[in-house]
Amino acid sequence: MTTTPDTAVVHGPKRPGVPALEARRLTKHFPVHQLGPSRNKPVVHAVEDISLALPEATVTAVVGESGSGKSTLARLLTQLIVPTSGELLLDGEPVGRSGRARREYTRKVHLVLQDPFSSLNSVHSVRYHLERPLKLHRRAGRDELDAKAKQLLERVSLSPADRFIDKFPHELSGGQRQRVAIARGLAVEPRVLLADEPVSMLDVSIRLGVLNLLDELRERERLAILYVTHDIASARYLADTAVVMYAGQVVESGPATQITDAPAHPYTQLLLSAAPDPARTTPPVLRGRGSPPSLVNPPSGCRFHPRCPFAMAVCKTTAPPALPVATDQVAACWLHSTERTPAESAPLHNGASAPAS
Ligand SMILES: Nc1ncnc2c1ncn2[C@@H]1O[C@H](COP(=O)(O)OP(=O)(O)OP(=O)(O)O)[C@@H](O)[C@H]1O
Ligand code: SF4
Ligand SMILES: [Mg+2]
Repeated sequence: MTTTPDTAVVHGPKRPGVPALEARRLTKHFPVHQLGPSRNKPVVHAVEDISLALPEATVTAVVGESGSGKSTLARLLTQLIVPTSGELLLDGEPVGRSGRARREYTRKVHLVLQDPFSSLNSVHSVRYHLERPLKLHRRAGRDELDAKAKQLLERVSLSPADRFIDKFPHELSGGQRQRVAIARGLAVEPRVLLADEPVSMLDVSIRLGVLNLLDELRERERLAILYVTHDIASARYLADTAVVMYAGQVVESGPATQITDAPAHPYTQLLLSAAPDPARTTPPVLRGRGSPPSLVNPPSGCRFHPRCPFAMAVCKTTAPPALPVATDQVAACWLHSTERTPAESAPLHNGASAPAS
């Protein structure tokens, strides 16, 4: 086998020009706190060498099981946590470390959290939540505050704005609260919206409305949106590109419809086999052998090999590179390499299916 892993493949929608946000080879290892010598302390390999480009007016979905590293990736992109290695570029410029550069970054890259109730302060009104960022970031003079705050509500389809502006979070539905949280982000004219499971805590009946709002914002506000979800069906509905994560790594990426119609990685196939259920409130349980691996001692070679029905000898020893499988679609899986020797192709598990070349 001559192919070497090319982990610098940049995932995300392919568009001409400079992406709004780019992550280069981001890695995050969390230390595991335990007593003993400081050398060789174990770490959680939460995100491993991920490169991502988010162009404006696109939605990129990050999909995977619980614990696959989706939120860690989103938090790295917000700079809420410091990467172990890798760098971020905003509009093509490396992100500076000064306080001013950080403030500018926080203005341009906005995080929308899963639980809209906890992201709004229950003692303050909608008006307070919207006027505060307008004041702090000097987006409106005193006499414009009321009008600008109401415009923000209209931009997230909370209309007529007068009906909502003086309400408190507990007087709103979950979907309305999530819209206020998004409106607050829009107050500072961001370039990037990072939405970490933004609808998973909402009633099924209002999820679609919030997804449709994100869809509208992509076009109207030219936002680069990262949509984190464990629901691959909603990724297909909303996203231009789907990026599938397993055990801290990207295993497949490409156009969202292509990935769901013709998944090339056995893990994506497994994810899709957990039938989409719009009424589901908890992450799907995947059928098939085993469960997600320890991220402290991840499996050698392909991290999916202990669970993979097609695992071959090579899968246990050597991490697969991201291999092209269709236009703009890559899968990190040895099944798509034509360079395997017969010894490397030997089935790893008893009863493993014969791999296709
Ligand atoms: N601060 C931390 N310290 C140590 N380990 C962490 C920390 N934050 C996350 N992890 C670990 O990193 C791994 C990835 O976690 P992460 O929250 O990114 O997964 P996720 O894909 O968002 O899962 P979920 O779908 O449940 O939200 C997990 O093993 C988690 O336990
Ligand atoms: S065939 Fe091998 S490389 Fe591909 S997913 Fe299965 S274990 Fe990983
Ligand atoms: Mg998460």
